Amino acid sequence: MSRTVYVNGEFLPEEAAKVSVFDRGFLFADAVYEVTSVLDGKLLDFEAHTQRLDRSLRELDMSPPCSKDQLLAIHRRLIEANQLSDGVIYLQVSRGVADRDFVFPVDATPTLVVFTQSKPGLANSPQSKAGIKVVSIPDLRWGRRDIKTVQLLYPSMGKMMAKAAGADDAWMVEQGVVTEGTANNAYIVTDGGKIVTRQLGTEILHGITRAAVLRLAAEVRMEIEQRPFSIDEAQAAAEAFITSASTFVMPVIEIDGVTLGNGRPGPVSRRLREIYLEESRRTAI
Ligand code: PDD
Repeated sequence: MSRTVYVNGEFLPEEAAKVSVFDRGFLFADAVYEVTSVLDGKLLDFEAHTQRLDRSLRELDMSPPCSKDQLLAIHRRLIEANQLSDGVIYLQVSRGVADRDFVFPVDATPTLVVFTQSKPGLANSPQSKAGIKVVSIPDLRWGRRDIKTVQLLYPSMGKMMAKAAGADDAWMVEQGVVTEGTANNAYIVTDGGKIVTRQLGTEILHGITRAAVLRLAAEVRMEIEQRPFSIDEAQAAAEAFITSASTFVMPVIEIDGVTLGNGRPGPVSRRLREIYLEESRRTAI
């Protein structure tokens, strides 16, 4: 069945939705995006996603395409039109359409595209029960990873490298320490049960799920340390996991061929996933 998607003010069947070949998102990756999860037809952490979108736009001197209320209305109408129960909503704003020039156009109108992706059983994936395997790769991305741009070629290559190595995802390493996963934030858990994850900065995306998980972990008095860690330290850790809007909290059971613990998702990862999903469902809108 054809989806209804949103492009620049119109709700259209996906075949009819078109963007100009001169769109700067297409030509320069001059665009930012957000991915918001949907469970039981409701949006998770929507406010935080719109705040990060605002920040990405500001950092690149791009105009917001519409108000936050309008964004919420678009998301809700797409959920309704596509009868989306579990899945994600992808939103992309580009600087707009202009003749090809490295200089930003002064008066371009931003292009806004929003579409749904149905993922039945998103919160109960087999991977969340078995855990995933990761491999390490060098982090060869640009330096402003705190801005959620659509320059995703290297993360996409990273996923392919992981697949080729028989793993599920890649953790990127810079100056001897892990930055983050291809499309997620990375964590380890020490023998004493302390959660360790890299501090925020321009080197990583400021994950919305990361913020929620760390807040909830602090509420249940789990110990948290925000600092970088190496692959060696991760391989010797009691547990590891990743977070993102589409994977929530996902246990990691193997790093570069080394099995963590007994090779099954650990108690801290499992508990955090449970707490996060419970709270997200409770506050979904
Ligand atoms: N990716 N780090 C990177 C590089 C990411 O691309 C993402 C999200 C995250 C986690 O952020 P959040 O918790 O806000 O989803 C961290 C999305 C899901 C994607 O590109 O599909």
